[in-house]
Amino acid sequence: MSSSNRTNIPNSLNEHWMPFTDNKAFKKNPRLITDAKGVYLTNHQGKKMIDASSGLFCNPLGHGRKEITEAVSKQLEKLDYCQPFNQGYGGSFELATRIAKKTPEGINRIFYTICGSTAVETAIKIAIAYHRAKGDSKRFRFVGRERGYHGMNIGATTVGGMINNVKTFASVLMPGVQHMRHTHLPEHKFVKGQPDTGVEMAEDLERIAMNFGGENIAACIVEPIAGSTGTLVPPKGYLKRIREICDKHGILLIFDEVITGWGRTGSAFASQEFGVTPDMITMAKATTNGVIPMGIVAVKEEMYDAVLDSSKNPEGTPELFHGYTYSGIPAAVAAGLAVQDIFDKEDIFNRAKEMSPYFQDGLHSLKDLKEVVSIRGYGMMGGVEMRMKDKPGKSGFQTFKHCYDAGVNFKNTGDTLIIAPQFICEKKHIDEIIEKLRTGISNYSKS
Ligand SMILES: Cc1ncc(COP(=O)(O)O)c(C=O)c1O
Repeated sequence: MSSSNRTNIPNSLNEHWMPFTDNKAFKKNPRLITDAKGVYLTNHQGKKMIDASSGLFCNPLGHGRKEITEAVSKQLEKLDYCQPFNQGYGGSFELATRIAKKTPEGINRIFYTICGSTAVETAIKIAIAYHRAKGDSKRFRFVGRERGYHGMNIGATTVGGMINNVKTFASVLMPGVQHMRHTHLPEHKFVKGQPDTGVEMAEDLERIAMNFGGENIAACIVEPIAGSTGTLVPPKGYLKRIREICDKHGILLIFDEVITGWGRTGSAFASQEFGVTPDMITMAKATTNGVIPMGIVAVKEEMYDAVLDSSKNPEGTPELFHGYTYSGIPAAVAAGLAVQDIFDKEDIFNRAKEMSPYFQDGLHSLKDLKEVVSIRGYGMMGGVEMRMKDKPGKSGFQTFKHCYDAGVNFKNTGDTLIIAPQFICEKKHIDEIIEKLRTGISNYSKS
């Protein structure tokens, strides 16, 4: 296959070891996407499908946005790369200022990374660096949560809580990490929005602090809404209680908003939606509408000041020995700035907020389907859980395949279908997603 013809089935599928994929099954029966426009994808068989998960929560503004591709292409012609260490270019500062206007008050220092995993890894390091800067070097412990997903580097894997992601790598994980229980209780099965019960699950943090010494814990990291495990919405009052316990023990709170950031809940960040302010926010995915990798850690100004003020290094030596070759590279920044323009011009977060009741009603209308055992959701994200068949993940993947054939694309995690429409969806698109989900799920049930 020539380099200009990358849309058909390649001559060999063997060499590419695909991520998070059943390589053997995929290569026997590949699903290749060749085109994407607006809310639709086309596969290599020419079949058009509606994108019901915004890629991997990446493209809320729709595919093929001209404003973004043009901005990136213009940037690449003018300045394709410049090293980000002790040098820079104006765009990354401009983007940081724009982002800091949308993050919660006081969380206004922006560290660029490459993706969500590196954002989480960076937040872990910043937590340690901050405590050391304050003369508190004994804090080395971190607290995560069962069913959490924070990415795939060692730190991020350790604080995550999805069993398949950790069991192979247990021997190399970070020491000193404890997990709170997840918040999904049996009575939350078909709850729309925040469950009324379960606030007491936050007391797990207090218990960990009692067992390991709150004074030894550097930070607690949670996704405000657990996304990859299939949308676990926090019980009412839960995040507020987590914040209170962190404050009591001097533990930093990190909200991993790689999914919930940039409007997924109907507010810019879940932090604002739920009225709880963390010390750091990680983000990625929608920051560039998914077109160029970029991750970010937004940090409290006071923490940035503490790390900079404590440095006794000679001029030219970093205050924080951390960064990436691709931290805030021009093409990613150009995409990020174009995305910010669209957020503002199209009032995107309010658009998501206005569409979410319609989407949630649609999603919950699938409750009558025989094999559906739970539906939950918030804003423009939701999870539809299928009845488990002999082994976890089997029914989820079979349902995904039937839905793909029915013309709706998304990702399944285990037995849960992850549904996260683009914010540019109109009601007719939501209707199409729900209708095709119904067809796909029903066909799976009959199979
Ligand atoms: C909450 C959360 N954090 C971190 C990550 C890791 O992001 P990436 O795959 O860009 O490294 C993800 C990815 O899905 C995520 O959902």
